[in-house]
Order: sequence, then C-alpha cells, then structure tokens
Amino acid sequence: MHFTLKGNFIFLCNFFNVRISGCGFESRKKYLFGKASAQIKLVQGDSAGTVTAYYMSSEGSNHDELDFEFLGNASGEPYIVQTNLYINGTGNREQRHYLWFDPTLDFHTYSFFWNRRSILFLVDDIPIREFENKEKKGIPYPKTQVMGIHGSLWNADDWATQGGRVKTNWSNAPFVVKFQSFEIDACELLPDEKDDPVVKCGKSGQFWWDKPVVKQVNKQRRTQLKWVRDNFLVYDYCQDIERFSEVPKECKK
Ligand SMILES: *[C@@H]1O[C@H](CO)[C@@H](O)[C@H](O)[C@H]1NC(C)=O
Repeated sequence: MHFTLKGNFIFLCNFFNVRISGCGFESRKKYLFGKASAQIKLVQGDSAGTVTAYYMSSEGSNHDELDFEFLGNASGEPYIVQTNLYINGTGNREQRHYLWFDPTLDFHTYSFFWNRRSILFLVDDIPIREFENKEKKGIPYPKTQVMGIHGSLWNADDWATQGGRVKTNWSNAPFVVKFQSFEIDACELLPDEKDDPVVKCGKSGQFWWDKPVVKQVNKQRRTQLKWVRDNFLVYDYCQDIERFSEVPKECKK
C-alpha cells in the first residue's frame, strides 16, 4: 500500500510472510452518522485473488459495519465492488456490482453517507446502494455504535475472483493500492472521549445530515440508483432464493 495519510490514521501491517500478508489502517477517531469519502486507485494489472477494503466498523461481537470490498481480477477483467452491512454482528447483506470505469487507472471517490433515515454507498457521488431505516417494521438499523474508518488489502484467493477459481499470482507482488484525500464530515468521537455518542450525535438539527431537507435519495439519485441497478448489478442477496429459504424481511418493499 502507498499512503499519504496524516494524524488521524494508524497502520496495521504484516510483511513477514508474503503469502499471508495483508496491510491496513484505521482511524483513531470514531464516527456516528455523516459522510466519509476516500479516493482509491485499485491494484493495477493482475489483481486476481486480492481484496481491497474500505469500511467503517465498530468493535465487539455485536458490531456494526459498512463495507466496500473490491474483488480483484485477472489483467483486463473487471473488478467487482461488493458492498455489505453488519448490524449487531450480523452480515449476509451482500450486493455486487461492476463499475462503469476501470478503477485501476485513476483515483475515484467511494463514500458512505449515513444518517437516521438511510445509508448510501456512493461511487463518484453516484449512489450504487441504499439501505433504508425500516425499524418501524422491526428491522435493525445501525444508529448507536461509533465506527472507525478502515482500509486494507489482503489475499482472499479462496473466494474473491471468479468464485476462487483464479488464484493470486505472487510473482506479481507487491500489489499496490493507493488511498488519498479522505473527506470525513461526520459526528466524531476522539479516542479517549467519554461522551455518550448517542447523545452527542443525536442532538437534532445540529448536523446538516439530520436536516429534513437533506434527502439522501432525491429524484436525481433515484434515477442513478436505477441506472446502476439496471446496468451493473451482478448479485443481490435479496434475490438469492437458494441461500435464504425466505427472502430477508428487510428486502420486502
Ligand atoms: C472477473 O472476470 C470474469 C470474466 O470477465 C467475470 O466473470 C468476473 O465477474 C470478474 N470479477 C471477479 C471478481 O471475479
């Protein structure tokens, strides 16, 4: 990995054994609601077997997590972006999309936009996924746990590329992914802060993302979501009837 990060991030790297090595960073501050963007340029050439992740996560076994996972591919074959959410420790909410550009040629912006009403996953400010708050229907929603911002690159050639059939070619190592230009506009807690995040981040009207006029999904974004879904969706857990005997409750309109 190659970084131009300062202050807010710490690094967790292991280069002792190249075949199990991975590398990552996490933010010192934690966040509850807001928008967090990073520009990422993915591994060029043969990235098969590698997974790059940009995600927000709380700690503990009942953690909440929002994920972008970029599944590498053989040279010239398309990356897949997998998004997922864990709520109270339970995930299994994967969606997969192709992108409308080659994510290895330039930096592109990947963002989470999270408030009480919904969570958007955006690529260059185009929403590729929305997860709505349906607590009224008894579906859990992440809104109490502060999350750190993380990035990592690791070997996942048992599943990542074409279902695990294409393996990491270690003669192409090192695999390099670049993160830059983090923009985090969110309710933040410092590492030692004792304030209750639910109280601190919940004062209504305090933050722009809580304003009633801030609709994550306006008419333009609704059109964009449909465009992405119609043209780039590869997999949606909501439609996976082999995996779930019953369609997950949150998938119902
Ligand atoms: C890799 O390329 C193959 C062939 O084009 C494609 O079927 C697959 O979805 C691509 N992505 C991954 C992550 O396997």
